[in-house]
Amino acid sequence: MPIITFLPMDKSITVPRGTSVLAAIREAGISFSAPCGGKGSCGKCVMEEVAGLAPETKAEEDALNSHQLGKPMRLACQARICHDAVVRLPVPAFSDERKTLLHRNISFHIDPRFTRERIRLEKATVLEPSSLVSRIRESLKREGKTWINIDLKHLRQIAMTPMENVAGLFLDHDLVDLYQDGCEKKVYGLALDIGTTTMVMYLLDLDSGRQLAVSALANPQASFGADVLSRISSMRRNPDNLTLLHTVLIEGINRLITNVTALAGIPQDAIYDLVAVGNTCMTHFFLGVSPASLAVAPYHAIQEQPVEVPAADLKIAMNKNGLVRTLPGIRSFVGADTVGAILAAELHKSPKTVLLIDIGTNGEIVLKTPAGMAACSTAAGPAFEGATILHGMRADMGAIEGVSISENKGIEIKTIGNGKAKGICGSGLIDAVFVFRQLGLMDATGKIIPVEQAPGVLAHRIIPWKKGRAIILAAKEETDTGKEMIITQQDIRQIQLTKGAIQAGIAVLMMELGVEKEELDEIILAGAFGSYISRVSARGIGLIPPVELEKIVSFGNAAGEGAKKTLLSKREYQESLALAQKVKYIPLSAHKSFNHLFLKGMHFPVLDC
Ligand code: FES
Repeated sequence: MPIITFLPMDKSITVPRGTSVLAAIREAGISFSAPCGGKGSCGKCVMEEVAGLAPETKAEEDALNSHQLGKPMRLACQARICHDAVVRLPVPAFSDERKTLLHRNISFHIDPRFTRERIRLEKATVLEPSSLVSRIRESLKREGKTWINIDLKHLRQIAMTPMENVAGLFLDHDLVDLYQDGCEKKVYGLALDIGTTTMVMYLLDLDSGRQLAVSALANPQASFGADVLSRISSMRRNPDNLTLLHTVLIEGINRLITNVTALAGIPQDAIYDLVAVGNTCMTHFFLGVSPASLAVAPYHAIQEQPVEVPAADLKIAMNKNGLVRTLPGIRSFVGADTVGAILAAELHKSPKTVLLIDIGTNGEIVLKTPAGMAACSTAAGPAFEGATILHGMRADMGAIEGVSISENKGIEIKTIGNGKAKGICGSGLIDAVFVFRQLGLMDATGKIIPVEQAPGVLAHRIIPWKKGRAIILAAKEETDTGKEMIITQQDIRQIQLTKGAIQAGIAVLMMELGVEKEELDEIILAGAFGSYISRVSARGIGLIPPVELEKIVSFGNAAGEGAKKTLLSKREYQESLALAQKVKYIPLSAHKSFNHLFLKGMHFPVLDC
């Protein structure tokens, strides 16, 4: 069997002859982006052939010719391994800062589930030979702990441990660990937000509630597709992929644990508690439970109740007696991340009418009114993550993050890091589309206008592209490759699909709860993406309702903040359980007005002159 070697990590594995490079990448557990899941349609799984792959396929020629001329670039999902081969994979630049930003201060009472208690034993006497466990219970009762559970494992440990000056670590009422009293026993916890595209982990001191470290990582499932449906379908095509999808996720989480513990300088076995949130599909993959039922009508989950499992069962790199928990989901695709976001934004306590939008690869929307709360999920798709856009990329160094109109009515770009442009991220796309509308380069249906109708100074920006047109966003001298960066008609259609889905989701919730746009007191944009999009552009293209700008606020990673709250506070955790029951789930696919609103939402608003 041939050997494939991956650079720059210098990792080699043996694979059956004819295996695709993408399948080998997955097998090797390497993080790699394959947005269409290997169907050959996105042209984004580009890597460099160093030696030995089978000849280029037609699909590769079509996808690569225009961009990678003269370089041995290949599509990982199409290129086959027939002999020993060597390939070089792109190393993703990754900026933690954008994923972990928080715009609001949150305060709550710290009351973690893991607590420590001293054990001060009365001596047993011949006249009163109380058992060791009875005396431990009495000691803890004196400290205010009215009952405790000691399982067989710890009963055996107690019988073999000198019980002078010991203390116990408890999870609620269960004894978890015995240790020598007086030695400092620090206890830490993790809050984890498993996003479809990005995972974010926070390390917290469970005594003080202090955040000690934070780290983010691209979701390692990206080689199975950019969105949840691609990953589910890869699993349905090959059931073995469920194990792979679960394993790469756990490996990624363990990498995050390595990062945060190294940053804080603490041992991994001092971590006892982990609270995870994510959309329903992600929490299923996290637990190793097939989410296939989410992809077919009636789109139900296997599990939406909260789960608690020993960390060892999931092979999470923390204390072997540690606990892993997931928050409850609401229904179908509206998962634990939405419950976390509601909890963090305290929508359930707000007397106002508030719309919360968490735009990720899935868009979750919650509408809270004084009368109640409803939520829905839209398949926003990965366009805003750059996955289905010709020059799209994630919000990393070199991404065009902002587009504006220059003084002479031209187009100005701004990149992350202020260097040459490497691609366009979601906030740049929203700005670009709004600017195109304002400059008259695109009509309200999203169609790029013919060059002869373009204003003189901008006419050079409109070029023919395949069977349609494209708009040059960045000139050759502004880009990393020295080639023009364009937004194609197809790109604009992808943005319209995403926008249409989110806009329709919002409209359905407002219709269901009888809310007019004038009644909205606040629109909260949650998630990393919500923190960076321009409120003016988002409103200008109709992504969010046309309310006064002051009513639109960014929150940051609300789902992650919700996970932190429930990690640090029993009360908040209980609140999350009750909350999940209170939110009315609105299934968009079954809603009579959704299709009509979706088509309407694809259009861009008429601009004020
Ligand atoms: S073209 Fe290979 S993953 Fe999309």
